Amino acid sequence: MAKPVKKPAAKKPAKKVAKKPKTKLKYYFTVKDSVKVVQDRSGPKANKRVKFVFDSLAKHLHAFVKETNITMDEWMYGIQFLTRTGHLSTDWRQEFILLSDTLGISMLVETLNNHKMSGETESTVLGPFYIENAPHYKNGENICLDGKGEPVWVHGRVTDVKGKPIVGAKLDIWQANEDGFYDVQQKGIQPDMNLRGVFTSDKDGKYCFRSAYPKFYPIPFDGSVGDMLKALDRNHNRPAHLHFIVSAPGFEKVTTHIFTPDCPWLKDDAVFGVKESLIADFKTIDNAKKAAEIGLPNPFKMVEWNFVLSKS
Ligand code: BEZ
Ligand code: FE
Repeated sequence: MAKPVKKPAAKKPAKKVAKKPKTKLKYYFTVKDSVKVVQDRSGPKANKRVKFVFDSLAKHLHAFVKETNITMDEWMYGIQFLTRTGHLSTDWRQEFILLSDTLGISMLVETLNNHKMSGETESTVLGPFYIENAPHYKNGENICLDGKGEPVWVHGRVTDVKGKPIVGAKLDIWQANEDGFYDVQQKGIQPDMNLRGVFTSDKDGKYCFRSAYPKFYPIPFDGSVGDMLKALDRNHNRPAHLHFIVSAPGFEKVTTHIFTPDCPWLKDDAVFGVKESLIADFKTIDNAKKAAEIGLPNPFKMVEWNFVLSKS
């Protein structure tokens, strides 16, 4: 029997690859395409990260203008507001940082970049009144050089997330005085370096110092940011707090505050810096023996505050 003739295998039709339609560059401005027109202007050598951030900024700013129907006068007012903000900013005063703070942006950037999950001390804003090179003190010493305010004893430990003491951690501390001003705001009125100091945790991770019970104070509100707060009927005070930057080799440094629990502005901080975990329990102590031991008049305020750092 003759062999059946093999039919040649039918050729498979070539797979059709759907071609992406090339999106045309937009050259001419329309309200509908405004974002794309701006985004399409960057060239092939654009820095990738800059382009990503700038394209997003253009997208959100254009949406903001479209949503709010900004008038020509309002837009000009905005330009003048930012110009004034720039003119007010010097080495001594940073009105742009204050703007970022009062818009809640500083806290958002700070918190998103320091999101910890293992019980580490939470961070908050640095603020404009930190200065480097504060004097170093021994544990127990007093940083209140103007003698004003209610005396306070601050003590605690610095540990890792497992509770192991961190020896030799640096605690850089600063705060406003009884009248609600930092030393740098009152040159010639307060002693230089009043209410600032660097302490070092001991062999058990312990630190302690004497200071003045902090008071709430106004952020600078005689500039463009102050005008914004007035127009929005917003508070310009910060609730009473002590600032800390706690650092140790091999650990992530934390920039934070502790807040007093009885401050009227705790729930209305002008810069949104309060986190619940940072509200401390300051007690009034009436104990003449203890007061004499630590060198404070009786009665005095006391707070125990522990800092927890994560490994870097
Ligand atoms: C401060 O706590 O020192 C501060 C923070 C933000 C704006 C103004 C002051
Ligand atoms: Fe402050």
